[in-house]
Amino acid sequence: MPRAMKKITPLNACLLLLSLGLTAWPSAAAPAQGLFDFEREPIDYHKKPASNVVTRLQSGIDSGKVQLVYKEPRGYLDSVLQHLKIPKSTQSLVFSKSSAQLRKISPSRPRALYFNDQAYVGWVQGGAVIELIASDPTLGTVFYTMKQERGAKPRLLRDKGQCLQCHARPRTRDVPGPVVRSLYTGSDGQPVLNFGYYVSDHTSPFSERWGGYYVTGTHGKMLHMGNLLTDRSQPLAEIDYSRGANISDLSGWFDTSPYLSAHSDIVALMVLEHQSQMQNLVTRARYEEVRGRYYDKALESNKDFRSDLSKRLIVRAGNDLLKYMLFTGEFRLRAPVKGTSGFAGEFSARGPRDRKGRSLYQLDLVTRLFKYPLSYMVYTESFKRLPSRVMAHIRRELRKVLTASSPGDDYAHLALKDRRAIFEILKDTCPELAEGW
Ligand code: HEC
Repeated sequence: MPRAMKKITPLNACLLLLSLGLTAWPSAAAPAQGLFDFEREPIDYHKKPASNVVTRLQSGIDSGKVQLVYKEPRGYLDSVLQHLKIPKSTQSLVFSKSSAQLRKISPSRPRALYFNDQAYVGWVQGGAVIELIASDPTLGTVFYTMKQERGAKPRLLRDKGQCLQCHARPRTRDVPGPVVRSLYTGSDGQPVLNFGYYVSDHTSPFSERWGGYYVTGTHGKMLHMGNLLTDRSQPLAEIDYSRGANISDLSGWFDTSPYLSAHSDIVALMVLEHQSQMQNLVTRARYEEVRGRYYDKALESNKDFRSDLSKRLIVRAGNDLLKYMLFTGEFRLRAPVKGTSGFAGEFSARGPRDRKGRSLYQLDLVTRLFKYPLSYMVYTESFKRLPSRVMAHIRRELRKVLTASSPGDDYAHLALKDRRAIFEILKDTCPELAEGW
């Protein structure tokens, strides 16, 4: 798991600076091709065609069916979100200079992020481009930019490798994908790197989350790193985290009026953290099966041949994904969590529902994130279209976990009633997983 405090030495401080983009960006010197294994055969990431919500939006624009509206102060943002069906309640605000358009980002002008289970959108005040990541059933995720220039037919340009400098590293499980990280951040927006940093998912303790993000919502006595400007000269142990806790109104921190909403909702952030690494594990499981098959084919022409290596790749990637989707190691909440943007209500209302009216989108927010701890991402195209061997492995193992008398240490957090509920919900709503149950 990448959630470890990184020890900073001079060498990896340089690498970290580079990976955070604190050197010039975009850098023509950065090799765009051949860096990562997935940029070569058999994944061949840059050469294979993409097909996802963004390519469909582009086709709509090209054919004239979709007309994006450009409007100050956010350019195409509102229109893009509307067409991608991304609610504004998902807005998260990041004030650390840790991403592509970093010069324009600061505590008084945070970057805004939005997401649904198909796409992620980044917008920076006065930024040259809108940044997008689309979930893509065959490629995992694909990165795009869209120029913030008024024009008849705006283009969503597929990235040629620049985004991967930061979005394809151990922190994304070495596949192209989204990431949520947490950095101590100074009042100028610069990360204070010698204090270390974290990658966040649902296993992260609150105490390690949201450095460099604004966070609105209440969460009792659990403290986090959000809403804090770190003074470099101050010892780490003296930081008063309570100053950033339980903040519901950001208007005293910066001018919120240029933004779509005044929130950076804590629950939306928690769901984004879960989703980002779930997305990456799904991509990784796909890549491993494709690699395994490629390797087997090179060894033997018999198409049923399966080498030990390809079997191992599938078992490992499949088990990692299964543990994550069943929330093994989830951080246990010690106080109720409540957001401010209405995100929780909207998200919990989503279906599909089983015959008892239950859904995987229902949130708990008292002791854990979800009421029924199995990721709603099982309904996404990317998950449903996982290649057959890894899907069969997951289906088989999931059934064992849900029906065994004792499911083993990795799943000891799932009470019998949870396992039963998940089993029943899947049976009614997810034929891809519950086939033959
Ligand atoms: C310098 C490193 C860096 C580069 C280069 C970079 N990003 Fe990011 N990106 C980040 C980080 C770090 C985050 C997490 C939020 C933050 O810190 O702003 C992020 C977040 C995002 C998000 C929100 C979803 C998520 O992953 O949290 C989108 C969308 C996004 N980036 C798109 C892009 C696109 C498109 C490109 C290429 C044009 C790109 N990024 C290039 C570092 C980078």
